Amino acid sequence: MINEKLEHAFCVQINKELYSAYLYLAMQTYFKDMNLDGFANWMAVQVQEELAHAMGMYNYVLERGGKVTLMSVDKPEDSWNSPLSVFEKVLEHEEYVTSLINELTSVAEEVKDRAAISLLQWYIKEQVEEEANVSNVLGNLKLAQNDPRALLLLDRELATRTFVAPVIG
Ligand code: FEO
Repeated sequence: MINEKLEHAFCVQINKELYSAYLYLAMQTYFKDMNLDGFANWMAVQVQEELAHAMGMYNYVLERGGKVTLMSVDKPEDSWNSPLSVFEKVLEHEEYVTSLINELTSVAEEVKDRAAISLLQWYIKEQVEEEANVSNVLGNLKLAQNDPRALLLLDRELATRTFVAPVIG
């Protein structure tokens, strides 16, 4: 049976992952409006990733005999000045999520839930990958920002991203 404090912490994080999906859906819409379909595709894959992250925790709580309490998902911001400012926000958001995963891991350690600690190792590694992916796009965008042709080339590259359902844990 899962510890109550840890159960609550997982439910809060499920909400944060769903918010992340919602934020990236808003960014997908922003790029769709700009006719940058490759960037929109990158965000669409990101939405799927975040839903998978939420469901990984959801399934864990249920498997451990806990109860998932769903909470309201905040309205995400939905306007940005440029593709660059979108990706600056993504990196800032992923760094924030990394700090949340670290805090959640601290709760799992506090209540000595070894299975949860093991599960959260996957999320810790996933955050390293997420931040690296975002930093990579951000770096390319900094180079391309004043060059429409470079921006379109990057858009084509981001159109190739596909969602592969992660094996969590
Ligand atoms: Fe679920 Fe992008 O962290």
